[in-house]
Amino acid sequence: MSDKATLEINGKKYEFPLVVGTEKEVAIDISSLRSTTDSVITLDPGYKNTGSCESAITFLDGEKGILRYRGYSIEELAEKADFLEVAFLLIFGELPTTEQLQKFHSDIKAQSVVDEDIRKIVDAFPKSAHPMGVLASLTSALTAFNPSSVNVNSEEDMYKAIVKILGKFPVLVAWTFRKKNGLPLDYGDKNLGYVENILKMMFKQPNEDYKMNPIVLNALDKLLILHADHEQNCSTSTVRIAGSSHVGLFASLSTGISALWGPLHGGANQAVLEMLESINADGGDTDKYMAKAKDKEDPFRLMGFGHRVYKNFDPRAKIIKKAADEVLNDLGVEDKILEIAKALEKEALQDPYFVDRKLYPNVDFYSGIIYRAMGIPTDMFTVMFALGRLPGWIAQWREMRLNKEPIGRPRQVYVGETLRSFRAIDKR
Ligand code: SDX
Repeated sequence: MSDKATLEINGKKYEFPLVVGTEKEVAIDISSLRSTTDSVITLDPGYKNTGSCESAITFLDGEKGILRYRGYSIEELAEKADFLEVAFLLIFGELPTTEQLQKFHSDIKAQSVVDEDIRKIVDAFPKSAHPMGVLASLTSALTAFNPSSVNVNSEEDMYKAIVKILGKFPVLVAWTFRKKNGLPLDYGDKNLGYVENILKMMFKQPNEDYKMNPIVLNALDKLLILHADHEQNCSTSTVRIAGSSHVGLFASLSTGISALWGPLHGGANQAVLEMLESINADGGDTDKYMAKAKDKEDPFRLMGFGHRVYKNFDPRAKIIKKAADEVLNDLGVEDKILEIAKALEKEALQDPYFVDRKLYPNVDFYSGIIYRAMGIPTDMFTVMFALGRLPGWIAQWREMRLNKEPIGRPRQVYVGETLRSFRAIDKR
């Protein structure tokens, strides 16, 4: 195969180098396009055909339904690793030794208290505030309480900022959850595991000891692993481009949380449950809603279906669907919603509209059913997605900074008015 691509514009030929990745993906390096042609650029709304970077963190193949973190398959990691181990792998590139994981966890625990003044910010929010908006604000506010973690350049300073956010973010998640439920904002226990501590901080009632449910713990650990990274998705690209201005890790993460909130992205897990509940309230008539999803005149979409990249089954959805069955069975939860979800999936996988468009269940289709069975309210589902995605965002931000990538600044094709003269108001 040639190592160059040739482009012909107005009879003149231009050559551009090809970049081939370790999984044989091929890209045309157009970084010299504008300077070597007469300011010609490319146009690709939504960047469906455009790579923003070279990355060594996550590989996914949408056609084959493959997802790997640093070369390890998501299936193996979900079965054999725990979330903190996967966080270390994503951020630093290798699975940790026992000593490395112990040091990582103790460095994180040393940072797992937040400034008491943050309680005042939490208190200022109405109970009706959406948790994702609260979490984005609290994450950005961390910059004010940790100024030394802002514009970090050395690997050592980056490490300090990373263990800080990994220690404090679960507290912000727990306090966001507890605020909505009128519970005291307290801490967990440094003697617990990372995910155990998250569950205790979220669910401990003030008047009783918290009893850890191993089924819930195992399910949450697996869900967080499955959400941990997904290469250059909307929110991760947002973290990378915000971070490219050197605004610092916490503020960059805050932009990612806001991007994830959208119902077309991470907010879909909440939208899926709301959709399933409305179908259930409407008598469980899945045919009616399948018809609505296919009707071009109807804005209704089958939430939890379709994906920008996966044109095959989302490998995470397969694992989560199996976990949903296990968790509900183990918890003895009979959930009509799960039956409706399975009926919709069965119909969609046979329906030409969905098959022709390669619309399969994605990561969000079943995750909410497990969160609900765990006692997590619907509007906290995307917060749990953010908790899982945190190490991926951190890994991508760190890679962008260590690679000394330039500030992100896409171009445009201007299609507005050409030059015209100002007219006084009485002449308009
Ligand atoms: C996540 O990018 C990532 O990696 C994201 C993520 C991650 O881990 O970070 O995987 C997490 O965001 C998962 C996706 C969660 N979103 C949803 O479940 C919302 C519902 N899905 C859709 O809105 C949609 O499928 C998207 C946004 C996910 C993908 O949209 P695309 O690839 O831009 O597809 P499209 O909008 O161009 O649609 C192609 C066709 C259209 O029909 P035609 O115009 O060809 O006739 O498929 C149709 C669409 O109308 N279509 C759907 C549909 N999704 C696409 N029709 C009905 N229901 C749907 N869900």
